[in-house]
Amino acid sequence: MKLLRRHGYRGERPGHAATTAHFQAAYPFLAEGGLGAPGAYVGRDACGGAWVFDPWAAYEAGILSGPNMIVVGQLGRGKSAFLKTYIARQHVFGRQAWVLDPKGEYAPLGTALGWPPIALVPGGSVRLNPISSRLGREGQLSLLRSVAAAALRRELTPEEDAGVRVALKVVSAAEPDEPTLPEVVEALLHPVDAMVAELVMSVGDFSDATRQVALALQRLCEGDLRGMFDGPTSAGLDLDAPFVVLDLSAVQESAALGILMTCAAAWLQGVVMERKRSAEAGEGAGAKVIVAVDEAWRITADLGVAEWLQRSFKLSRAHGVQNIIALHRLSDLGAAGAQGSREARIAEGLIADADTKVILAQPPDQIEGLRNLLGLSATEAELVPTLRRGEALWLVGRRSFLVQHRLSSIELGLVDTDARMVSHPELIGGAAE
Ligand SMILES: Nc1ncnc2c1ncn2[C@@H]1O[C@H](COP(=O)(O)OP(=O)(O)O)[C@@H](O)[C@H]1O
Ligand SMILES: [Mg+2]
Repeated sequence: MKLLRRHGYRGERPGHAATTAHFQAAYPFLAEGGLGAPGAYVGRDACGGAWVFDPWAAYEAGILSGPNMIVVGQLGRGKSAFLKTYIARQHVFGRQAWVLDPKGEYAPLGTALGWPPIALVPGGSVRLNPISSRLGREGQLSLLRSVAAAALRRELTPEEDAGVRVALKVVSAAEPDEPTLPEVVEALLHPVDAMVAELVMSVGDFSDATRQVALALQRLCEGDLRGMFDGPTSAGLDLDAPFVVLDLSAVQESAALGILMTCAAAWLQGVVMERKRSAEAGEGAGAKVIVAVDEAWRITADLGVAEWLQRSFKLSRAHGVQNIIALHRLSDLGAAGAQGSREARIAEGLIADADTKVILAQPPDQIEGLRNLLGLSATEAELVPTLRRGEALWLVGRRSFLVQHRLSSIELGLVDTDARMVSHPELIGGAAE
């Protein structure tokens, strides 16, 4: 404009001059350049620069207040591809990763890194104990409640809640190291005097009140779901491995997958915390750990489990663990609940505790929710349905960035989920380097 005026175009309206900081406020969406902290390479930002990210470096630089991340995107838009390459690239910097893989698609990555997945199969050879004492007393109880509520598909009654608590207490007193789910079920079905006395109930009343929860938990110990979470953790699992994948694809079609994922996620959290604690007690803080739950909508749809997840989000921040959950849409977090409802509160809590959100393409019907929950500007919200495969709006703290995730030719082979499915040529927009 100055140039125009200098050349005598006086009929033109005077130009508006402002700093870029003001321009950002004047124009509703302006993607910035990089974060200004070191990290693993992700791809290219809207300004053409390399986009690198590491939650711990960003935390140290005062950019983030916590490491947790939520990745949201429609099927086939690149959630898992991003997770896989992020883990592989962070691996180079010594970051460890523990992944919950309900579709069984992390095997190529695990094999490439030298740590093939641990497959959980009903009646198989690997058992993980989700209520081992490494979770701590409170952690055990909170998990047991969530699993029980998920198995019942409803909230626990006050009697059931109390029953589960006293059962765990009795079992833990007898087996301080490894209380197990079958022992809890047994205690509920055959209560000892101390349990009923604590609740001031008769044995008959106790059994009646806790029968449903006992039978719901029994399903994890017998029948179709047996042999995965119903005993002490199998010996010989390499818990020091830099990359651990729990493959739950054998139970992918089970209606109980959400419950099983919760048990597996709890076990992961327990191991990670125990290792953090021992590392802190010994020589320093130990390696930073990424705990990723792919297809997390299978567990967040359940209220009790979502609450449990929210607590572990908070807990792991204190332990320097980065939790990542991948979902199809934010409403999978239970945000569909009415304003002010428990569902909405949990969703808001999880979102608030994830300082980094990676938003891949979302259908137009999600836009209103995205605006409300994430405070997107109108322009940002309009952009979301138009994002191409691998392209994402990154919300980091209060800043937003447009990033195209880039894959190397080697990585393409490790992340390809199209090979086994009908491909979506219309979605292909991401370039491979
Ligand atoms: N940034 C990208 N560039 C090129 N191809 C990609 C990119 N992201 C994902 N893909 C391809 O798209 C397909 C689907 O991606 P995937 O991550 O499995 O989707 P989602 O987990 O969101 O359902 C995969 O075969 C993958 O190779
Ligand atoms: Mg996926």
